[in-house]
Amino acid sequence: MTFPSSSVVIAVDGPVAAGKGTLARRLADKYGYAYLDTGSLYRAVGAKVLRAGGDPADPDFAAKMAESLEESDLAAKDLRSEAVGLAASKVAAIPGVRAALLDYQRRFAALPPGGKPGAVLDGRDIGTVVCPDAAVKLFVTARDEVRAERRYKELIDKGETVTFERVLADLRRRDEQDRARSAAPLRAADDAHLLDTSDLAIEAAVAAAVEIVANTLKP
Ligand code: DC
Repeated sequence: MTFPSSSVVIAVDGPVAAGKGTLARRLADKYGYAYLDTGSLYRAVGAKVLRAGGDPADPDFAAKMAESLEESDLAAKDLRSEAVGLAASKVAAIPGVRAALLDYQRRFAALPPGGKPGAVLDGRDIGTVVCPDAAVKLFVTARDEVRAERRYKELIDKGETVTFERVLADLRRRDEQDRARSAAPLRAADDAHLLDTSDLAIEAAVAAAVEIVANTLKP
């Protein structure tokens, strides 16, 4: 379904831990737009499947979980864990799951909560499938080792017991799953602006993203 709207949409896509969440949140703050982390929807479905003892690769079961997703599922405590991330990547390959989450994302983009004038959505397919008409599309990348290092630090800070090698291997496995799937694979839209954050500190990456958005939205 599409929703008629005058909302300005910024799509931020990219692989695991490229920095898209931070950039999307900062852009939303700067422009006074609403922010949606669409990965959390897939994570909530993955977590719900695991909690119910199901197999994240089972299309019927995963789709059922996606269709019955509730606000409270989005607040589950384990959403950011590695196990849930891998389950999320599996359920995300199932067309029935993607279909069940599509309207929610499009409605958020078209009618941002709180009457905000725009929305920033981050994910894998925002610029290609969810909001192909987004006013600005960013595709954020960084080298594998840099992304793994960021993710590793994040997990250690949260008290998880992991090794760098394990994080790097999981990240590559998840990217491969996200890129290889036939349903809305991870890829840059043809009209996306590429932003490589490998050698940029956070503030420099934010400044680069703001410059792209400002130049693109310029009347
Ligand atoms: O961004 P993240 O790591 O929280 O996303 C978790 C998984 O969800 C990721 O492996 C791919 C999937 N995902 C997706 O397929 N499409 C999106 N728009 C967002 C996330």
